[in-house]
Amino acid sequence: MKLWEGRFDAPTAHNADLFNDSLPFDCKLWAVDIAASIAHATMLGNCGIISEEESKLICEGLNGIASDIAEGKLEIEGAEDIHSFVENELVKRIGDAGKKLHTARSRNDQVATDFRLYARGAFDCLTDSLVWLVESLCDRAKAGLKLIMPGYTHLRKAQPMCAGHFFNAYSEMFLRDLERVRASRDRANVMPLGSGALAGTSYPIDRDITCELLEFDRPCENSLDGVSDRDFVAEFLFDCSLIMSHLSRLCEDIILYSTEEFGYFEIADAYSTGSSIMPQKKNPDIPELMRGKTGRVYGHLMGILTVIKAIPLAYNKDLQEDKEGFFDAEKTTINCVNIMAEMLPNITFKKERMARSAEAEFCCATDVADYLAKKGVPFRTAHAVTGKIVRECIKNGRTLQDMTAEEYKTFSDVFDGDITEVVKAKACADARTSFGGASTESVKRNLKSIKKRLKQYTD
Ligand code: ARG
Repeated sequence: MKLWEGRFDAPTAHNADLFNDSLPFDCKLWAVDIAASIAHATMLGNCGIISEEESKLICEGLNGIASDIAEGKLEIEGAEDIHSFVENELVKRIGDAGKKLHTARSRNDQVATDFRLYARGAFDCLTDSLVWLVESLCDRAKAGLKLIMPGYTHLRKAQPMCAGHFFNAYSEMFLRDLERVRASRDRANVMPLGSGALAGTSYPIDRDITCELLEFDRPCENSLDGVSDRDFVAEFLFDCSLIMSHLSRLCEDIILYSTEEFGYFEIADAYSTGSSIMPQKKNPDIPELMRGKTGRVYGHLMGILTVIKAIPLAYNKDLQEDKEGFFDAEKTTINCVNIMAEMLPNITFKKERMARSAEAEFCCATDVADYLAKKGVPFRTAHAVTGKIVRECIKNGRTLQDMTAEEYKTFSDVFDGDITEVVKAKACADARTSFGGASTESVKRNLKSIKKRLKQYTD
């Protein structure tokens, strides 16, 4: 039965129903829809808008529906949307009292309330997953404290660093995501219920009661905005998009570092796949797929931004398009965060290769220039002298490490015997003790701070 069929002479066309119905996807909202209806019915009873008895009957009926759905005894089908389904079912069970549930309420404030309740849960799940991921990154950073690897700019070797620095960098990104998710959740936690269709209601409702029952921070203060605001959906999708972008970067690094060419990481067999034709292949399908899934989450963000960009106040049916993208982004992002958290401990480091690579290709050249500059040579001159050394080395097939102190001295008499110690990758990394730098000490400090900041999401 349609909730609104009284005004119509003829039923809707079958295909119009198929096009219009949201039940196939908003069935996910059944639990929050029932919770919000129970709060609404309780408030109606408390305010004397319906009798206490009717209110009790409605709440019992709704609880019965909830447990039947949860136990798989009640199939969600045969209605336009989840709101109609629950109401129809209630009337089937308790008769006329059920028909009073929708007093002082519209599906417009109902769906906006349900979706915010649902979104709250999604923000919380996302938080839990992100916490797990950062914990996983912290473990890898701890293991990386003992290792040296090259850092890159322009994907060209730049300077040696303690390998923990790499993982901490990603922890910083996901900590920002945690902060963003929390702020978005806070902003979403405002209650539209009581806004009615668009203009509030003439019944003596008490929105503070429903607000408290549903644990919202406050009722929204403008009913027009209340029923049509989907900023929280856009924010959720933006948060997911940025999380996916961070994951995608991490995936890209993992894919690169596990190539034959880099050879720093090895992804365990359990998280790798093979080729149907090339027997030697071990492919990084998991991080590749994750990188690819970033696209659909960005797409959903673009989708909601486009849906909301020109809707006139207040509710318009366009807004029904707010859900599928949200659900898909929620599932995709949480799944990707979880699988990354699970895969990280299954990546082994090829320590020698990393350390060797951190010294190769003149990775320590900045430290040669700094050596001279610290002894009074203007940095720009020191840079030029070191550039010349690099050029000569390339010409003669030498490295900064196999040059003797005497040979260094031919480029500048400022060089002393200790220059050969300066060009060791570990020494170069550990010299960068500045706050936030790549020395083992700085990385340890960073790791400690990351763990401390993470705690606020677990306590
Ligand atoms: N299924 C609708 C949605 O998801 C529920 C609200 C319908 N309201 C209305 N006035 N048609 O947006």
